[in-house]
Amino acid sequence: MDKLKIIGNSEMAGSINIPGAKNSSLPIMISSLLTTKKLHLSNLPNLNDIQVLKKLLKSFNVKIIEKKNFVVFDSSKARNRIADYDLVRKMRASILVLGPLLARFKEAKISLPGGCAIGNRPIDIHLLGLEKLGVSFTLENGFVSGKVKNNLKGNSIILPFASVGATENILMAAVLAEGKTEIINAAREPEILDLAENLNKMGAKIKGAGTNKINIDGVKALSESEHHIIADRIVAGTYIIAAIMTNKEFVVKKINPNYLKSLILTLKKMGAKLKIGNDFIQILPSNFLQGCNIETNPYPGFPTDLQAQMMSLMSIVKGNSKIKEKIFENRFMHVSELNRLGAQIKVKNDTAYITGNRRFKGAQVMASDLRASVSLVLAGICAEGQTVINRVYHIDRGYEKIEKTLGKFGPNIRRVK
Ligand code: EPZ
Repeated sequence: MDKLKIIGNSEMAGSINIPGAKNSSLPIMISSLLTTKKLHLSNLPNLNDIQVLKKLLKSFNVKIIEKKNFVVFDSSKARNRIADYDLVRKMRASILVLGPLLARFKEAKISLPGGCAIGNRPIDIHLLGLEKLGVSFTLENGFVSGKVKNNLKGNSIILPFASVGATENILMAAVLAEGKTEIINAAREPEILDLAENLNKMGAKIKGAGTNKINIDGVKALSESEHHIIADRIVAGTYIIAAIMTNKEFVVKKINPNYLKSLILTLKKMGAKLKIGNDFIQILPSNFLQGCNIETNPYPGFPTDLQAQMMSLMSIVKGNSKIKEKIFENRFMHVSELNRLGAQIKVKNDTAYITGNRRFKGAQVMASDLRASVSLVLAGICAEGQTVINRVYHIDRGYEKIEKTLGKFGPNIRRVK
């Protein structure tokens, strides 16, 4: 298994163009199953999760043609099949094939995704919503099987929690249901809006995506279309935090700052110097950074996917901080590893208490989930001495060759076998 070796006390200077969003690409690639026409996608990021999903789609006989600036997904000859445990376990987002398979083939059988490092990740809200559209499910031997009599029927669906994945699964199924569907308490993430814009370009009739109430008028079929994936706000936020930690001028480009309002507000409260353009965010050196208290919430609240990265920053600023994790029940796996690097963080129930004014010192650490792993990279860049991060495959799921991407701005990061 690959490791990352980081020699700390690095500086980061320069500017970076943010790649396409992983959490937008995954549902949009899957939406190709809804139609027999071609879907042309540009700005897909080059990540392990994207490769894993391409493999899964090919197993449904989706043709994937890689062109220079875009990828063509052709599901004209797609065939239904069971999505097995191995693939689904590797990437939870595979559960998003459920809605499209039911809409297209009227039946689907998929392995329950199971839990992961950050929580047991149930899919009850996905199933509740799809049942409202006329699907009947059975759960047995670790699989969920769904069947539709005749066709999906539009309905009014209230989500008990604004689940991102459930909103996406229900939205994709509702696009081909007969009649009208409304999703109340829908997730509002920019990735939902991007999925809806992609579906509308395919001929769907969706209104209200990005708000907590989405209305869909079912259509009979979808047509050929193209879509440019939005930039990855979590990758952008990660590099903004890294630049603040190394306290050098840096520019994050090709990102819509409106996707990062809660992060920007929090960083400014901490004393960060940020210049906000219409498609870039410039970080300027700041001579005084202090701690603050945050809690993670569904969009537009503070994103849980930036919680671990914030913990690294909070460890080195003046004064103490607090983070209340309200989305996942076990998303503090990075705490023990950050403490090995010299942080002083205590966890009590859903809250982490971070002592400031710490100095990271290099050590051997273990990556656990995608975002926890990158928080260790941020700490390693600022640490005294060498940090070795094991199980780097977690990072490769969400960050393109991070040792090269970050390395070219100064940090001394090497990947070793
Ligand atoms: C999406 O996961 C993202 N993944 C996650 O990013 C992100 O952390 C999360 O949304 C929250 O923003 C993708 O988009 C591929 P949820 P998802 O359904 O859809 C509970 C990353 O690092 N819940 O909004 O799984 C669930 O247990 C990943 O890129 C139910 O109880 O998130 C969790 O506590 C990590 N029942 C909470 O809701 C359900 O049926 C949020 O889950 C569904 C969810």
